Amino acid sequence: MNCMLGIESSCDETAAAIVDGDLFVRANVVASQYDLHAEYGGVVPEIASRAHLERILPVVRAALIEAGVGIEQISAVAVGIRPGLIGSLLVGSNAAKALAWSRDLPFYAVDHVAAHLFAGLLHTDMQARAGAFPALGLVVSGGHTSLFRIASPVACELIGRTIDDAVGEAMDKAANMLGLPHPGGPNLERCAQFGDAGALRFTRPQLPNPLDFSLSGLKTKLLYEIRGVPQGRGAHATFTRSAHDLTDSRRADLAASFQRGAIAQVIDRLTRAAELHAPRALFVGGGVVSNMTLRRELSAWSLEREIDLIVPEPRFCVDNAAMIAGHAVLRRALGDMGDDLSTPAEPVSRLARGVLPKRVQ
Ligand code: KG4
Ligand code: ZN
Repeated sequence: MNCMLGIESSCDETAAAIVDGDLFVRANVVASQYDLHAEYGGVVPEIASRAHLERILPVVRAALIEAGVGIEQISAVAVGIRPGLIGSLLVGSNAAKALAWSRDLPFYAVDHVAAHLFAGLLHTDMQARAGAFPALGLVVSGGHTSLFRIASPVACELIGRTIDDAVGEAMDKAANMLGLPHPGGPNLERCAQFGDAGALRFTRPQLPNPLDFSLSGLKTKLLYEIRGVPQGRGAHATFTRSAHDLTDSRRADLAASFQRGAIAQVIDRLTRAAELHAPRALFVGGGVVSNMTLRRELSAWSLEREIDLIVPEPRFCVDNAAMIAGHAVLRRALGDMGDDLSTPAEPVSRLARGVLPKRVQ
């Protein structure tokens, strides 16, 4: 049996999964740390790495039990090695290296951004997707908002990225400004359900690279709408109102408007990229793709252009280890024998950094 064990610990989810050579997910275990970070309003790196340390082995054991396989049936080990919080990455990567070394198994050091990008292939027929290339790729997560031109699952070229916040990060901050609890993105979506998305209009930023994103203007507009225009600047700024002054219906209107503004920018960049690159398919991934409004817009957009939309189930959009194992399975199928155990964990993605254009494997 061909079983890839995947491990993911880049931020605040400790996860293990087992994916077979046909991209069928036999186990997917995720231990979230929402409760540990809620009182701080965001992820505390120290707390995250300690929790990973406590949970990593129980989570791997739970994945083996869920898949009904023993450790001796695992044929390779994959881990999300970059990007992420370095203390968190070290826990998962050292556990994966130790397992691979002790059982003399191939080791795959997977880029988390690439794993998000191809998570839509899990549970699908890989051969049937052979005609998907050239494709466009979009990752919208808490750490990244990037557009790629894709020639194959191991050849992606970065063609656009956020110049400030990622969409997920901006949604989290917007939720915080509105007085909504952590985790911000899902709570913003919940609150937006009851609001009027036309209540506040956001313009789309014009940037030197028309495929780049910028969310800071949206955040500032929302902040001023909630708290009023500040008197003074920087640390000395004072506001006349606070989120406590919002009525529930105004809060919902602002949440819905912000969500619409952020999604409109994503769709706008996709449209420009499709005009430039004439893709056959669009791969999307990242935590924000679990947002139902964004999913609906992506479906309508791709249907209208007859572009094949390859979108993961919501549970494979947010951080998980099945996508890590899945990308390693794709690499293996293309003849990649794996990485050296000395491959270091790194805080930055090799796929989504640097000066454009950038071609990376
Ligand atoms: O991919 P992910 O789990 O972690 C990173 O790699 O960053 O993405 C997490 C991000 C967070 O910012 C979270 O608020 C956002 O995805 N998110 C959502 C939703 N679910 C998660 N944003 C909007 N609507 C959602 N339903
Ligand atoms: Zn992620």
